[in-house]
Amino acid sequence: MVLVGDNTEMSMKMPPLPMRPRITSDPDFTSQEINDEANRLMERIGQRLRWTLEACKTIAPMTLRINRLKQQKDVILIAHTYQTPDIVYGVADAVGDSYSLSKIARDAPQSTILFSSVRFMAETAKILSPGKRVIHPSPEAGCSLSEGITAADVIAMKEMHPGVPVACYINTTAAVKAECDVCVTSSNYLAIAEKLPGDQLIFVPDRLMGQHLKKHLAGKKTVFLHEGDCEVHAAFTASTIDRQRREAAKRGIDLRVLAHPECAEDVLNASDFVGSSEKILIEAKRASRDEGAAIMMITECGTAERAIAESDHPIELMGSCTMCRHMKRTHLEDILQSIEAPDADQIIEIEDSVITRARMSLDQMFAMSDC
Ligand code: 13P
Ligand code: SF4
Repeated sequence: MVLVGDNTEMSMKMPPLPMRPRITSDPDFTSQEINDEANRLMERIGQRLRWTLEACKTIAPMTLRINRLKQQKDVILIAHTYQTPDIVYGVADAVGDSYSLSKIARDAPQSTILFSSVRFMAETAKILSPGKRVIHPSPEAGCSLSEGITAADVIAMKEMHPGVPVACYINTTAAVKAECDVCVTSSNYLAIAEKLPGDQLIFVPDRLMGQHLKKHLAGKKTVFLHEGDCEVHAAFTASTIDRQRREAAKRGIDLRVLAHPECAEDVLNASDFVGSSEKILIEAKRASRDEGAAIMMITECGTAERAIAESDHPIELMGSCTMCRHMKRTHLEDILQSIEAPDADQIIEIEDSVITRARMSLDQMFAMSDC
């Protein structure tokens, strides 16, 4: 067992720090300002044995510079939970799952949105705020789900099942969203699918989330699926859950297993709770605080890093997390460069006609969501 923060015992293996050779001074900031910023980062990240004061000093000049530029250039910086803690706690104005971040991108008053995440999320922000400049620092940060389906695939499925409503997961390109009736996320796919008219449904592109949906709608709707999956969540296995349950039983601890719905059916069946990255975080905090349970998170490492930083009580994390190579492509250097002078491919551009049609599927999602 390793103590990583003031509050957190871990048998969980955490990802290495995203460190590159960095400078600890900057002529624009005094050493006192850099020291204060490093202390702020260390406190906020809450892993003082990994993210030490010395480590935080190497990123402080950059977070100070980015935060100053955000003010000067009227930028809101939105980061997905799976971004690294230096981004989440150093420079982000909003952090969350894809549903909450879509709403923030839609309603933000700033003239520029910088989206630290994968491409489809930045594209979604542009669809929701087409009049704003949307910057995506890592144009090459994709997603196995969004890259696993094209608009032509959706059109072919609609031709095979004419008149059947099409729900597409938000992990899709703008062109795919333009072919769908309603967009869904990991926090609302069950509720929205239930409300759609008729006894048939096309759901794309996540086959595993689709199987969970099929089970939920059994006897009510026939669901037609596409063959996509998330390379991170599809790799988790039920045997690792069994192993951790045996270990917890040996130690006499109550273990709660919280899984993302992009996981395989046997993994979800072996779990106690299924939800979006944000819902997993909320449940981890609740179950550890109210019931003293140890937590195993079956999702990307960013959710565990947030639990460590944001829990106000002792929380024990068990098992191991996996990093999404796409989510982890963005570094503070990319954010600084793209906020100072973005390259053409870091500015999201989408054809007006695609925006108009994709927007309808997102608006339909907001209209059908309870929150
Ligand atoms: P969430 O909406 O649950 O954050 O999911 C996004 C994602 O890409 C999960 O892999
Ligand atoms: Fe895509 Fe999976 Fe990475 Fe999420 S974790 S961005 S679904 S590849």
